[in-house]
Amino acid sequence: FEDRKNSYGPNIEIESEWGPFKAEIDAFMEQSTQWRAFPIVGGVNVETNDTHAIDSPYDHNQNTGRMDWANKDVVTSAIDKAEAAFPEWNAKPASERAICLDKMADLMEENYPELMAICHREAGKTIQDSIDEVREAVDFCRYYAQEARNHFENPTTFKNYLGESKEAQLKGRGVFACISPWNFPLAIFTGQVVAALVSGNTVICKPAEQTSLIAYRAVQMLHKAGVPGDVLHLVPGDGMTVGAPLTCDKRIAGVAFTGSTGTAQMINRTLAARGVAPVPVIAETGGQNAMLIDSTSLPEQVVRDAVRSAFASAGQRCSALRVMFVQADIADRVIPMIKGAMKEQSVGLPYLHSTDVGPVIDKKAQNMLLEHIEHMKSAGKLIAQSDLPDFADKGTFVAPTAFEIKSIDQLTDEKFGPILHVVRYKAKDLDSIIDTINNSGFGLTMGVHSRNETTCARIAQRARVGNLYINRDQVGAVVGVQPFGGQGLSGTGPKAGGPHYLQRFAIEQYV
Ligand code: SER
Repeated sequence: FEDRKNSYGPNIEIESEWGPFKAEIDAFMEQSTQWRAFPIVGGVNVETNDTHAIDSPYDHNQNTGRMDWANKDVVTSAIDKAEAAFPEWNAKPASERAICLDKMADLMEENYPELMAICHREAGKTIQDSIDEVREAVDFCRYYAQEARNHFENPTTFKNYLGESKEAQLKGRGVFACISPWNFPLAIFTGQVVAALVSGNTVICKPAEQTSLIAYRAVQMLHKAGVPGDVLHLVPGDGMTVGAPLTCDKRIAGVAFTGSTGTAQMINRTLAARGVAPVPVIAETGGQNAMLIDSTSLPEQVVRDAVRSAFASAGQRCSALRVMFVQADIADRVIPMIKGAMKEQSVGLPYLHSTDVGPVIDKKAQNMLLEHIEHMKSAGKLIAQSDLPDFADKGTFVAPTAFEIKSIDQLTDEKFGPILHVVRYKAKDLDSIIDTINNSGFGLTMGVHSRNETTCARIAQRARVGNLYINRDQVGAVVGVQPFGGQGLSGTGPKAGGPHYLQRFAIEQYV
């Protein structure tokens, strides 16, 4: 991990990194109508003829290839093979499994242009987001490989007052289901899969149906990196066709899931209804993320960090800022600056260097966000809306929009897109504001802007969130540096990219 080759850091000069790849990326994008993806079972493509076209979020007239969905029979055959392959894979030394992760990291770095091209086309990701996407996937591989060598390779010794010989071992649980989202179609997908694999499990992975092409390429690369065909299987498709038969199967020994809170609850119910032993669900779900800004903060820095937190990746990050609380004393200074910054944002084609905000993932997401914007025009007060390009109706673009509202209670659920809500508060109400945020039940990220250390400590003590960021933006957690994950309605707690994550995929045995 320490000698990873691509250490971009947060303030990358993207043109210098991306420029040399541009011609290669363009060449891959030109081939995109030919892209094909299939379920992969036992290392072999399975043609089901249930073929679906992949839509390009920024231009619906452009075909972005096609994919075959899996079905119940394909899922069952994948689980059969994964179950049979488990004992041998689990018996390997962790360092041997870790070699596959290191090789996977190398392969992704070698194939950066192709992976970026798929990120642009299939997920509508901007250049910066596509660079970050691949980098995070690489980081997960190198970090979990190192973690596995540290914690799984050698039995842990521990206090032994009884004079017995004893050791503790971490082992795989069995067949793990990894169900991943479209917003980090390579990074979260790879992170879940390699964590489960390196811990000794065999894996069935179901990517979000919107972004199956990149998952298909990642599974091909993992097999090339040395993961045996029977150990890792890909079953693309939607929740009803593939997710349901996968989680209903009594042999699934654990689930890693990132997506909506509602789907996580459904997975829990399905697993429980199987009537077999309870199994772990490692869930990372939604948020109603707030930023608290007091009168000692620096407005220029607040605006930079709030705009990035709310609108980067078109607001489609679970960490993204949704509600910004500004102390009333400085609100009339900060709000006009937010408005000015939003007018500077360029919404456009994701593969252009000039674009700050790309499209949202699909029509369903766009409609939901546009409905919320319409609702807020009467329920709140419009602060600003960024301009849309002329060609916006060709794709699913949503203009970044900010509203002033009275209270977070006006928001019933998370709106996953580029919409910011601003609430003014009085200094004396700070504790009750934090309690209201806690009462939303979500607990993923929170941002704080203050130069008063006592205030920062007070907020950190009271807020029930997984990740609290002080005097910076609140998105873009770096693997191994800012382990990431929420609590309450935001997830079951394990931190992806953190030192305790792999243990959640394992069984601890004391001998
Ligand atoms: N890990 C991402 C971030 O920190 C969110 O999923 O932005």
